[in-house]
Amino acid sequence: MSLVGTVVTQSINLALKTTLACILLIGAYFLSPIALRRFVKDKDGNTIPPGPPTRYAYLRKYAERALDSWAKQYGDLFSIWMGSQLFVIISDPQVAKDLFVTNGAIFSSRKRYFMKSQVILRGRAITGSPYGNTWRQHRRLATLALSPKSMEGHADIMDYEAHMLMKALYEESQRGTTPLNTTQATGRYALNNMLILSFGIRTTSLDDPLVAKALRLTMEFMELTGPWANVIDFFEILQYIPTPKKARGHQLYADMVDTYGSMLLQFKTKMLAGEEVPDCLIKTLLENQESEKLDWEDICMLSAVFTLGGVHSVSGMIQWFIATLPSHPEICAKAQEELDRVIGRDRWPTIEDEFNLPYVRAIIKELERLHAPFWNATPHFTTEDFSYKGHYIPKDTVVILNCYTIHHNEIRYPDPFSFNPDRYLDDGLSCNESSKLSDPMARDHWAFGAGRRICPGIQTAERELWLVCSRLLWSFNFKSVPNEPISLEEYDGLSGRTPKPFRVHLTPRFEGVSKILDSAEDVPFYL
Ligand code: HEM
Ligand SMILES: *[C@@H]1O[C@H](CO)[C@@H](O)[C@H](O)[C@H]1NC(C)=O
Ligand SMILES: *[C@@H]1O[C@H](CO)[C@@H](O)[C@H](O)[C@H]1NC(C)=O
Repeated sequence: MSLVGTVVTQSINLALKTTLACILLIGAYFLSPIALRRFVKDKDGNTIPPGPPTRYAYLRKYAERALDSWAKQYGDLFSIWMGSQLFVIISDPQVAKDLFVTNGAIFSSRKRYFMKSQVILRGRAITGSPYGNTWRQHRRLATLALSPKSMEGHADIMDYEAHMLMKALYEESQRGTTPLNTTQATGRYALNNMLILSFGIRTTSLDDPLVAKALRLTMEFMELTGPWANVIDFFEILQYIPTPKKARGHQLYADMVDTYGSMLLQFKTKMLAGEEVPDCLIKTLLENQESEKLDWEDICMLSAVFTLGGVHSVSGMIQWFIATLPSHPEICAKAQEELDRVIGRDRWPTIEDEFNLPYVRAIIKELERLHAPFWNATPHFTTEDFSYKGHYIPKDTVVILNCYTIHHNEIRYPDPFSFNPDRYLDDGLSCNESSKLSDPMARDHWAFGAGRRICPGIQTAERELWLVCSRLLWSFNFKSVPNEPISLEEYDGLSGRTPKPFRVHLTPRFEGVSKILDSAEDVPFYL
């Protein structure tokens, strides 16, 4: 054999050996949970909750289906490794209460997800902040904008926005004659409510460029921040490599600062010029900027993400509502009988009527159960080692509330996949009150999360949903479009989820409907 031949053979041998070693190492890495599950213990010998024997790089779309089948196999508290990160998944109300509420001091932080918290939010915004003083401060300031007093001050405006949504839907469907695409109008409704609370402004038509821009940013956020979706979150080494997704994250950050930062600047200029400005979140933030030591980016990201959080969640719920009704005529009929009996046909329902219309309320709760926008709430993160019923949950574990499995528990919700508002007929509590019940099995549902991080927009969201859902039922009949089936299983979004685009027929139930719809105009105004 020639010298060249020998060298070639030797390098092939070396390459083969290296490849083999790599495969073995990678294999060992992905199978290491088998050993870790046996040998990682706390001082009392408790091991990590049971779960699959391998590590995962990411979970696909519809991750809740995988979690549900693991919960059935491994139980109410199971664990899984995503790359280097340990996750613990809670699929039972009592366990959720014991950990998130009773031990809230340990279970209320957030992981610094690479994509969400580092690239997009840059360590700011309430939803991504670790548990601690900064989070406490930002949440306190934000909840001022959502306090019962502030809500009362906004009652007329929210009522008006609901009217404008109804009107927009009616007009877009050519007064009930053509099939309707609800995506933009419902998105603008939720957006306007959030813009008013946060920035003291509203958009005046669907053509306002801010509508399309803000909705696009929100959707992009939902696509990029899935808790299971990004390999880059779980393999640190990839974070140093430029990827198209990472570029999208940086772009989203830049777009948010651009869009909301310029609104903020305008507001501040007015304020400094001594002009009258409306009460809203950024007014509070700017007034307290010095005493609270907030920097510009804090204010910008806090208000931007606050706005963003309330958009697709609420508009998604309204779209699920409209998508569900065509296939449930008997439920519509029952609700409309209640509305005719209690309200009559001379006026439509308002916020004061809420507790006199138990069946309509029950429809909304059932919708929140079956179409919760966040099947995993927002992941929590532990700040100390903890042991619970013989399981060891180390510090720095991501803890997931598995709403999908909890919402389909056959004991709590018999025949869990059917849309059946009757199960909530006797529930006279608001979602906020229900979340504080001492028996967690009695809670209505978990769509707003749990513990110290529970959604601070819970009452705002309930009011927005009430005004629109009750009025939609009062005003319209719902029919699907022939040959355009509406999917109630598929959805868009990897963190928040909204229905796949669909079209429906909304036709007025009686003559008086258009009179009420026409009784107000969409006008630009500053509050
Ligand atoms: C149907 C509508 C909504 C649903 C289902 C929803 C659900 C949630 C969930 C599941 C969480 C995470 C809770 C946890 O970590 O345990 C959350 C957090 C949050 N939500 Fe909502 N939300 C909705 C509407 C809103 C609205 C309208 C606002 C604002 C007015 C809002 C503002 C926030 C904020 C700021 C957080 C972060 C809280 C924190 O990390 O401390 N949400 N929401
Ligand atoms: C929930 O209700 C309590 C009163 O029971 C109120 O103090 C609190 O602000 C409400 N929380 C939210 C997030 O709306
Ligand atoms: C509805 O409108 C949205 C946004 O304008 C669009 O993305 C979607 O494709 C439309 N859906 C249908 C079914 O027409």
